[in-house]
Formats: sequence, C-alpha cells, structure tokens
Amino acid sequence: MSDNVIKFDRAEALVSANKLTEAAKLYRQILAEQPKHLAAARALAELIETGETPGDASAARKKAIEIEIESAYSVAKTAQSNGRFDVAIRCYRKILELDPKHGDAVWGLAEVSYGNDQPEEALRWYQRYAELFPNDPEAAHMVAALDTGPKPERASDDYVRETFDQFAEDFDRQLLEDLEYKAPKLIHALFCALPRGRTFGLDILDAGCGTGLLGIEFKPYASSLTGVDLSSEMLRRAKDRKIYDVLVEMELVAFMRGRIAMFDIIVAADVFCYIGDLTETLHAASIALKPGGCLLFTVEAQSKRGYTLTGSGRYAHKPAYIRKVAQNAGLKEILARTESLRLEYGEPVKGYITALQKPN
Ligand SMILES: C[S@@+](CC[C@H](N)C(=O)[O-])C[C@H]1O[C@@H](n2cnc3c(N)ncnc32)[C@H](O)[C@@H]1O
Repeated sequence: MSDNVIKFDRAEALVSANKLTEAAKLYRQILAEQPKHLAAARALAELIETGETPGDASAARKKAIEIEIESAYSVAKTAQSNGRFDVAIRCYRKILELDPKHGDAVWGLAEVSYGNDQPEEALRWYQRYAELFPNDPEAAHMVAALDTGPKPERASDDYVRETFDQFAEDFDRQLLEDLEYKAPKLIHALFCALPRGRTFGLDILDAGCGTGLLGIEFKPYASSLTGVDLSSEMLRRAKDRKIYDVLVEMELVAFMRGRIAMFDIIVAADVFCYIGDLTETLHAASIALKPGGCLLFTVEAQSKRGYTLTGSGRYAHKPAYIRKVAQNAGLKEILARTESLRLEYGEPVKGYITALQKPN
C-alpha cells in the first residue's frame, strides 16, 4: 500500500475518533505530496468549512472542485475516445453541475451526442457553446453544419486555424493510432499508379500540409518540397520534420493563385473536406501547375449531388461534381479510386482519391 493510502486511512480513523486537528494535519500532508488527491482535498475542505481546523474555506472548496472537474474531464475524454459515450456523458454532465459554464464539457457533450447519433442534442450543445463564447468560429461553423439554416460554402480561415492549432499536438497520434488514417498513403499509391509512374526531381506542393504526414511520402520524389497551411501550430510540427524546403503560413487558394506554373505535382490529403465549393480551389491549382502537372487529393465521397456540409463539420463531395469543376478549371481526371480514408466513431469514412492533370 502506498504511503498516502495508509495516511488517508489513518486520517479517516482520526475523524471517526473526533481527533480532527490531527486528521486535518494528515490531509494537508497528503495534499503536499499529491496535490490532486480528491478525497483528501474534499475532507480537508469539510473540516475547514465546519471550523474544525483553520484555513480559507472557500479556497479549500474551490480547490476540491477543481480537482474533481479535472479528474472527471480526463475520464470523459478517455471514455469518449474509447466509444464509451454513456460514461463520457455522465462525466461531462457532472462537470456542468460543478461549473455550468465549463466550455470544454459543453463541447464534449456536443461531440459525444453527435457520435451517439443524436444530432439535435449535439446542435443544442454547440448552440450553448456559442452562447458562452459568442465569437468562437468553431462553434459558429458547427451550428451552421447541424442547423437547418444556410450553409457556408467553405469553412472560414478562422475555423481552420483554431481547429488545427488546438489539434496539432495530438494530431499524429490520434490520426495514425486511433483513426487508422490512410489518406497520405492512398495519395502516394495513386501517384505511383499514374501512367508516367514514379518520377523523381519534381517541384511538389503539399497544400494543407499539416504536420507533414503527406510530405514524408513525397519527399523522395521532390527536387523542391513546399508546404502551405493556415495553422501555425501544424506548421511548427511540419518544420520539425526537416523535410520541407519552404513552409508558408497562408490560405492555400490565395497561395496557389500567386504561383504561376511552379509545380509538377500538388497534393492535398484530407484538406478539401474543409472547402465545399471547389471552383476557386481547382482553378488556383490549375494556375500553379506546370503544363502536364497533376493535382492529387482526397475528398469524403457522397452520392448526393454536388457537395454537402455534413454534421461532422466537414464537406463531402460527389465524384461527378469534382470532374465537372475540374473540367471547368482546365483539368482532366486521369485516375481515381474509392477507399476508406480513416475511421470516424469506429466506422470507415468513404473517400474518393483522384488525380487531375493539366494538359501539356
Ligand atoms: C486534416 S489536416 C491534414 C494534414 C495533412 N495533409 C495530412 O494528411 O496529414 C488538414 C490541414 O489542412 C489545413 N487547411 C484546411 N483548409 C486550409 C486552407 N484553406 N488553406 C490552408 N490550409 C488549410 C489545416 O490547417 C490542416 O493542417
């Protein structure tokens, strides 16, 4: 038994024997060694509140509540990522009993409700979040995604920045370990299967490069490898890989428009799901490609017409829509495949992986 378990038992026995000053001393010792010991923090707060031992009662109670919230939040997050939505919901609700304005618990309830097939409940929680944080771009986007009102044609730059700045630290682990993320490998496989096959010494742009998972695949073929992304935190991780020659913090359509015929290959893995209307994007890619160059990318596939902003906050596209927009931009589909890109709440996300070529 650890020292603090023994001390805690002794403290409880002292409370039963009404030796409260000694018990309080032990609780304080436990907290000095283990500041997040919830039971000791609660017991001490009680002794201070009842005047049995000196101290700041409201600070002691606040501390106990903080520890309880932190512990419930950690259990909720683990339960959520393991698909134990019932446990996650219970913990998030417990947090809101203790702190009704706890934004992360409200957001967690929205996500879990969506994962639990309760989109209306999810909308209610996103709306609550938007009430608490009126200028939050993520909440505004998710409310638009789930509500019946008009939908934006693409996610705002602020939404993308905020989402990925927050996600960056855990991005590689979550995508590769939890979500079986395959988009970079699928794009690489499509590239290898192109009629001209593997080619080396290419000028390559990784559009929406994130932390560089796709850059790793394409580095061996690059004479120059450029990455562009809106999220400074994602770019910081891409830089750490030391594979990119140039990294630029910028919106990718604006970036491509200004780089006339600079790239042999442009790749974008899991990026165009943040853009609904792809007209400007494919047009800009066509400008940035050299004659004969190719744009390879993934989208989440849907059978409905055009594109749709789904309840996940991402867009899904119909392959026929991609081909039509590509044609208008002067690009031609030369190869495409349909495969699972990753998991979402344990289910595969059907993706369309395509290669569009600019004529020579
Ligand atoms: C899901 S991550 C994928 C990252 C990387 N392509 C990969 O496969 O690991 C999407 C990335 O696209 C970036 N992004 C989304 N829309 C963008 C835009 N319009 N301009 C620049 N970057 C964008 C995000 O910041 C994020 O880093």
